[in-house]
Amino acid sequence: MTSQAFYEELQGVLKKYPVKQSAVLEALYILQRDKNYLSDEDIHTAAEALEMTVTEVQAIVGFYSLFRRQPTGKYLIQVCTDLPCALRGADAFYRRLCERLGLPPEGGTTADGLFTVEEVVCLAACDRAPVAQINLQYFEHLTDQAMDAVIARLREQG
Ligand code: FES
Repeated sequence: MTSQAFYEELQGVLKKYPVKQSAVLEALYILQRDKNYLSDEDIHTAAEALEMTVTEVQAIVGFYSLFRRQPTGKYLIQVCTDLPCALRGADAFYRRLCERLGLPPEGGTTADGLFTVEEVVCLAACDRAPVAQINLQYFEHLTDQAMDAVIARLREQG
């Protein structure tokens, strides 16, 4: 998105809010929407447009896990490997998933940029592990086979 396009869209957004700063989440959403992460330039753009400091914007971005600071695949696969899930095999499930996607054991983004895989802490579905959240949709009681089917379907969607 060009900065001109951003400023044009932001004008419409600002009409909904009493003060510019109140629009910060929506402004950041717009800046992240196309490329799936926020660059340093985006942070500065938001700060300037909303008359905030860069530190204030960074604090907000850091608080919300849906804002990404690194290039992220179209599909963000977050697998809970916290202790209760690890006891149900989620840890090993995660490593096998990374291996099948050609990623290092700690996760990362596939070469085609389609999938980013990362470990997260409790997704509040401890009794349904292994559990993954993919772009906010939950997949529970996962097996390798079930996960591969989900990935194949997402690959088809592109
Ligand atoms: S510990 Fe994994 S969902 Fe709660």
